[in-house]
Amino acid sequence: MESLAQDNWATANDIFPSEFCMALAQECHRLHHEGELTKASIGHAGSKTINAEIRGDFTLWLEENTASELQQSFLDQMELLKSKLNQFFYLGLKRFESHFALYPPGGGYDKHIDNHRGSGARRITFVLYLNPDWKKGDGGELSLYEPDDENQLITQIEPRLGTFVLFRSELFPHQVEKSHSHRLSLTGWFRNDAS
Ligand code: OGA
Ligand code: MN
Repeated sequence: MESLAQDNWATANDIFPSEFCMALAQECHRLHHEGELTKASIGHAGSKTINAEIRGDFTLWLEENTASELQQSFLDQMELLKSKLNQFFYLGLKRFESHFALYPPGGGYDKHIDNHRGSGARRITFVLYLNPDWKKGDGGELSLYEPDDENQLITQIEPRLGTFVLFRSELFPHQVEKSHSHRLSLTGWFRNDAS
């Protein structure tokens, strides 16, 4: 919480037990094998395009009414986190959305901002990485850039099992480096609009 307050971004790797993350990773793999994940699109409603050059992942949105026990446990913890963030930062967060994301080898996501110029309701981005075997050279790092200089790299976060990242959605240009192996995560956004 302190570093989120100071830097507007933070990482932690002691929030979710590794057995819990392993179970999520297995579930994501299984759902992908069953064809439940779909090719992600970019752009706004009405002008969505699929462009693997810009964004290479497959996603599956979590829904309260169809969530497995495991997914529900994750959703419950994000609900708690939402309350804590509201207590600390008065962001008026009302809800969140989240999806599994799977980047096949060769996939990445070009530099972008999740809430361009604060025009949307996304306030805080979160990502939980689900890659037990990630090692240097596998790619798929999350590169964060300075809010006022999109060429100035701040950090590169390795997508290792259990690493959890939070950042202010309207501030940081960021990019998913090309991944050379399968790269799994649970990604989501706390929003300040009602559903
Ligand atoms: C996104 C995104 C980052 C990551 O889905 O908008 O930037 O590390 N994801 O998966
Ligand atoms: Mn993003």
